[in-house]
Amino acid sequence: MDEHAEVLVVGGGIVGLGVAWQLAEHGRRVRVFDAGRAGRGASWAAAGMLAPSAEIGFEELDLHALGRESLSRWRSFAAALETASGAEVGYRDDGTLVVADDRDSARALRRLFAFQTEHEAPVEWLSGDQAAEIEPLLSPRLPAAIWAPQDHQVDHRAVVQALALAARAAGAEVVEDTPVARVRPDGAAPGLVLADGTRLDARAVVLAAGAWSAGVEGLTPSAPVRGVKGQALALRLDPERGLDLRHVVRGPDAYLVPKADGRLVIGGTSEDGVADVRTTAGGVYRLLEGAVSIVPAVEEMEWVEAWAAHRPAAQDHAPLLGQSAHPGVFYATGHYRHGILLAPVTAQEVAAEIGRFLDGLPETAPVLAPFSPFRFD
Ligand code: GLY
Repeated sequence: MDEHAEVLVVGGGIVGLGVAWQLAEHGRRVRVFDAGRAGRGASWAAAGMLAPSAEIGFEELDLHALGRESLSRWRSFAAALETASGAEVGYRDDGTLVVADDRDSARALRRLFAFQTEHEAPVEWLSGDQAAEIEPLLSPRLPAAIWAPQDHQVDHRAVVQALALAARAAGAEVVEDTPVARVRPDGAAPGLVLADGTRLDARAVVLAAGAWSAGVEGLTPSAPVRGVKGQALALRLDPERGLDLRHVVRGPDAYLVPKADGRLVIGGTSEDGVADVRTTAGGVYRLLEGAVSIVPAVEEMEWVEAWAAHRPAAQDHAPLLGQSAHPGVFYATGHYRHGILLAPVTAQEVAAEIGRFLDGLPETAPVLAPFSPFRFD
């Protein structure tokens, strides 16, 4: 048995750190292993939208419900995290606009609105003029918008840094630059083999390695998660020149997320089957074109940077949450576009499920049931 830990977490992104923090707060001894720097993968590359109404699509009813459940927990999760870490995480409740930029996209938006209202999403239909009253930099040619006042955002980079601080403060160990080669699910207790050959035993293992989950050996079948490349870029807001946005704006081809540090994040491409994380001229071009079509003043903004990462996606684009076929090996991966939104519900519910397992009470929380790792069997 690893003398340092009863739970070993593979992956130090927002999900792994969140689960580790919650376990450590409940008195569990936890070690997290990240192949690089904790929080610098998909969690860092994200935009920080907390947007179940704007981001989750038709027919994803279980995912929409999970997203709304997690959003309802975000404000108190952020407050608890700020207290535990001593760091601010920039929770903002300014709301989100989903806009159409032509007649076809207005028709698609109308269908989305009908679906959302049928499922009691808290949204309003706006004309282009009404949307421009909320966000004056919107193009005057936009035909329509959906206003999602309860779709919020957070400073996701501050969140992962705060989670590492809070997890460590609660007694967890966060080990960086230490890749995990294998999960060992078949011994008397589950364990890990690190890439340097070190073998560790524990009472439970959590696979939270995002897009790299399928590459961790030892599980049968391996985690059914693939990477979907996303490129994004940042420009500089400049309120003195009138270049300012207050709300998240989501258009047909790009979303714009104003951050508290003065950057405007514009994302995100969705490139399935692309293994590299190069930023490309085509990716940046499509994002800027999509952004300018809804906020023309983007053309005037100063360039800051571009980046790319892989989102972890299961076949149905919903996360894998809960115990795997191997007793004591838990999944918390496959969060695709929603890792930041789903962080509180994942951290709290997966940690609670592991706690029940460690205490010999193997029930599954109803909120996790639709996301069982067995659902593809
Ligand atoms: N949630 C933003 C993205 O995946 O691009």
